[in-house]
Amino acid sequence: MALNIVIGTQWGDEGKGRVVDLLAAEADYVARYNGGDNAGHTVTVGDKTFKLHLIPSGVIHPHTTGVIGNGVVINPRVLLKEIETTRAAGVEITPERLRISHAAHIITPAHLALDAAREQARGEGKIGTTLRGIGPAYNHKTARGGLRMEAMLDLEEFAEGFKAHVEMVNEQLTLLYRAEPLDAQAITEQYLGYAHELTPYIGNTSIRLNQALRQGANVLAEGAQGTLLDLDHGTYPYVTSSTPTASGALVGLGLGASHVGRVIGVTKAFQTRVGEGPFPTEVFGETAERLRGTGDKPWDEFGTTTGRPRRVGWLDSVLLRYAAQINGITELTITKLDVLSGLENLYICTAYRKDRQTYSDLPLGPTDLDYEPEYEELPGWEEDIMGLRKWEDLPQTAQAYLRRIEAIAGVPIRLVSVGPERDQVIEVE
Ligand code: GDP
Ligand code: IMO
Ligand code: MG
Repeated sequence: MALNIVIGTQWGDEGKGRVVDLLAAEADYVARYNGGDNAGHTVTVGDKTFKLHLIPSGVIHPHTTGVIGNGVVINPRVLLKEIETTRAAGVEITPERLRISHAAHIITPAHLALDAAREQARGEGKIGTTLRGIGPAYNHKTARGGLRMEAMLDLEEFAEGFKAHVEMVNEQLTLLYRAEPLDAQAITEQYLGYAHELTPYIGNTSIRLNQALRQGANVLAEGAQGTLLDLDHGTYPYVTSSTPTASGALVGLGLGASHVGRVIGVTKAFQTRVGEGPFPTEVFGETAERLRGTGDKPWDEFGTTTGRPRRVGWLDSVLLRYAAQINGITELTITKLDVLSGLENLYICTAYRKDRQTYSDLPLGPTDLDYEPEYEELPGWEEDIMGLRKWEDLPQTAQAYLRRIEAIAGVPIRLVSVGPERDQVIEVE
């Protein structure tokens, strides 16, 4: 019994929610450890589709307890709305089933206003954030001036601290960014209401999880975003402000490293990215339209949180090998293999080239991706594979594509997903 960690190996949207839902069948606790409602995790169960931003994807299984850890930043308005819609879809969300860390930080409307003002001020150099206030909330956390969920446990003190926070940000908004100030009094009253509603969910989740692990429970940690969006190890500065990589699960849940069992890297069979920043294997035109889809299928590449069309490209195995190292990945789950059906040829980037020199690893990590990708061409397959459930039924060319990924990443593939439904999965021996 251990802590198993699910992380994205790319720029997010690898299908982590879908994989967490699958693995949660054997978990007692499912815990989000980083990010906030910039995440959009889609889970399809029968005729129901859940689009989760803050609630851990595993709570759809009634036997699990959900945890939102100290590493997460929480917009109370979004969380309450999500609790309501998830309940309306038939999932029981109670303060017993969903525990929120007292040490998680709060995202306020002032953080959203700052996110927008900063993006505008960056002009051409904008990051393309989700405008959910993520960066400013983590800024206040590291500057030791943030508001934590525990502040809600004393409503009078909460109101005082909240109002002072909005007034402080108002000064920045008006003086620095020439933006409109927020109505501190009105927002404080609104958030006091949210605090009242959320109080029963708040507690020390680190103690709870540590206790559970000692008693033999299975804890599944659900990463948001992906390795290449990691604040330290991603394509800085085009990253998010948290630690999506596996070590973030320890800090973000308050758990020791000795608990870690499996580190499951979720990798999309091709590459996508939302927002700005380098993307060496990006493709355009017809191939891009083919990989992205038109938006008529639920899994087509349009952002769950913002609806933005995702940038698409070929699988980058230089970056995958890097992700395997940074996270200590023990196994891979490949998602969306079905999307590649019907393409005559597939391409995997196996190395980078610059000034007539070839690099199979990144000299400076992914901050500097100013290289030409070198591709290996592999034959595709014609047939629809969404109905397949056995490795041996997969076309030879699909098997060869997967085996090549495995060899380059240096990590075994344990699962292959061929559709969004729970049963659309193939176990690899
Ligand atoms: P996450 O942010 O990593 O959880 O990923 P998203 O939920 O943002 O994006 C993944 C999308 O692909 C969702 O719409 C999933 O339902 C869908 N999906 C996941 N796995 C598969 C798969 O193997 N095949 C297909 N066609 N869709 C998938
Ligand atoms: P899930 O969990 C894809 C991207 C944004 C932007 C950058 C910084 O669904 O995989 P932020 O709002 O975090 O300050 O934006 O990070 N980004 C994501 N891209 N999937 C996500 O989450 C993302 N969360 C943030 O598009 O480029
Ligand atoms: Mg997503």
